[in-house]
Amino acid sequence: MADWTDCLDFGISLAKQASEVREPATDQVQDVRSDMGESVAAGEPLELTDRPTWIIDPIDGTVNFVHRFPFVAISIAFTVNKQTEFGIVYSCVEDKLFHAQRGRGAFLNGEPLHVSGQEDISRCVVVTEIGAERDDLALSTLTSNIFRLLKLPVHGVRALGTAAVDMCQVATGGADAYYHIGMHCWDIAASAIIVKEAGGVVTDTDGSEFDMMSRRVIAASSSSVANRISQVVRAFPCRRDCGG
Ligand code: IPD
Repeated sequence: MADWTDCLDFGISLAKQASEVREPATDQVQDVRSDMGESVAAGEPLELTDRPTWIIDPIDGTVNFVHRFPFVAISIAFTVNKQTEFGIVYSCVEDKLFHAQRGRGAFLNGEPLHVSGQEDISRCVVVTEIGAERDDLALSTLTSNIFRLLKLPVHGVRALGTAAVDMCQVATGGADAYYHIGMHCWDIAASAIIVKEAGGVVTDTDGSEFDMMSRRVIAASSSSVANRISQVVRAFPCRRDCGG
């Protein structure tokens, strides 16, 4: 098996250096986003090939960044043959560096990470995001999903404003599940491998196999929690990031 540790080390140093941009103005944020890769969101075609590929979100939690709400991350994933080899999420304000390498576990600032292993949905803290969609179908779907979860009931619902950091909470065991509809592959590619390597389960919101381009995800502490969430969560249509 190829060892991508040199690339992982490079990714970690890149995440740390990129986080040194600290005092944003809204116009600077626009520049960063268009310069560094979210141009795909503006309609440019994206293709994931078998070649070694970096999937980078230089600022996950852009609205937080602009408002100085203190959860902002740099998310870096690396794929080969369309399989994620490693993921790095650097939550800059918290100075928390999450990383995982395929088959080698997940870590927070060098310490091993494990999901909670919770199996009882009524004891779960569930994280989600409202996202940027404001059309009636998206809003009614998102709010009715939260309504149904609270009626189960789950123990609590939370949102930090960055998909990457939200999902890493599942890897730490601080949250028991996360679901999201409408985010992009660069928001969750790194955190998906971090959750899996911490012993968690990552699926589509309908319970089928996770597809990072589908713009739907459940990350959970156990299969039973993932299944329970997939039974109550509905998705609204989103254009795939690529393929299909
Ligand atoms: C966004 C954040 C947000 C989520 C959105 C994402 P961005 O990423 O992760 O929490 O709700 O769906 O697009 O735009 O800040 O990189």
